[in-house]
Amino acid sequence: MDTLHKIKLIYAFNDKDVENLKFLKSIMEANTKEFIAGVYSYISNFEDFSKFLPDDEIRNRHQEKLKFWFLNMFSGEYNNDYLRRLKRIGEVHQDIKLPSHYVSATMNYIRNYIHSIILKNFKDSDKKDSLIESVNKILDINLDIIISSYIDEGKLYIAATKFESKIIKLSSKFSYVLDLFLVLTLMLSTAMVFILFFFEIYRFAMSGLPFETTVVDILGAMLIIWAIRELLEEEVKKLQGKKFALSAFIGLAMAALLRKILIFSLAPHKSHEVAILGLLILILGIVYWLMNKKGADS
Ligand code: HEM
Repeated sequence: MDTLHKIKLIYAFNDKDVENLKFLKSIMEANTKEFIAGVYSYISNFEDFSKFLPDDEIRNRHQEKLKFWFLNMFSGEYNNDYLRRLKRIGEVHQDIKLPSHYVSATMNYIRNYIHSIILKNFKDSDKKDSLIESVNKILDINLDIIISSYIDEGKLYIAATKFESKIIKLSSKFSYVLDLFLVLTLMLSTAMVFILFFFEIYRFAMSGLPFETTVVDILGAMLIIWAIRELLEEEVKKLQGKKFALSAFIGLAMAALLRKILIFSLAPHKSHEVAILGLLILILGIVYWLMNKKGADS
C-alpha cells in the first residue's frame, strides 16, 4: 500500500472530510489576510524569528508560500502531489535547521485560528463538530509529514516524482511476486530434502551401506531441513510486512557446510578439506553472531 493510502487509512480521512474541507474553502479564502497577519504576529515572538526570516524579501516570500499552503488545505485535492509538497516544506525547514517544535507550535496556533473561524461562522453544533474534526485530521496529516522529514523515520516514503512513484509501485509488486516464488521454492526444496532423507534410509536397507554413513547422511539432511525452515519463516515474516533477518541465509550456509563436515569426517584422507570447512564455519559463525548482536542492540 502506498503512503497516500496508508496516511488516509491511519487518520480515517474519508470523502466526508474532503467534502467538509472543500466546503470551508470560500470562508478561508476570505480570511487569508487575517490568517497571515495572525501567524506572523505569533511566530515573531520566537526567539530566532529574525535569524530565520531576517528581511522583508524572505518574509514576503514565506507569506506567499504560507498562503498557498493554507488555501491548498481546502482545495479538496489530496493526492501524491499534495504529499510531495508537504514533504518539501519539511525538507526546506530542515535545511534551514528550523527547530521542529516551532512548526508544531505554529500548527497549534493555526488549529486554534481555524477553529475560531468555524465557531464564529456556524451555529449548528453537529456541523461545527464535523468541520472541526476534518480540519484536525488535515492539520495532523500536515504536521505528521512535515515533521517526519526532520525525524527521517524512513517509514514514510514519498516519491519525488510521479514517475518515481510508479516505478516504486511496480518494483514493490515485482518484489512481492519474487518473495512468493522464493517461499514456494523453499517449500519445494524442503520436500526434496525429505525425499533425500527417506532415500538414505532406503539405501541403507537395500544396499547395506555402513550404519555410520547412513546416520551422518540423515543428520546432514535434517540440518538442511532445519536451516530451510528458518529461512522459510523469515520469508513469511517478510511477506507479512516485517523485517527480513538476513542472518537466516548465513544459518543456511553454516548448515550446508556442517553437513559437508559430517560427511567428510568419515573419510580419513579428507582432513585438509574438513579444516578449511571448519575455518569457513568459524568465519560465518562470527558474521552470524555480529548480525544477531546488531539486531538485538538496535
Ligand atoms: C505550520 C508552520 C509552517 C508552515 C506551514 C510553513 C510553510 C512554509 C512553506 C510552504 C515554505 C516554502 C517551502 C518551499 O520552498 O517549497 C516555507 C519555507 C520557509 N519557512 Fe516556513 N512554515 C511554517 C513555520 C515556519 C516558522 C515558524 C518559521 C520561522 C520562524 C519558518 C521559516 C521558513 C523559512 C525561513 C522558509 C524558507 C523561505 C525562503 O527562503 O523561501 N516557517 N515554510
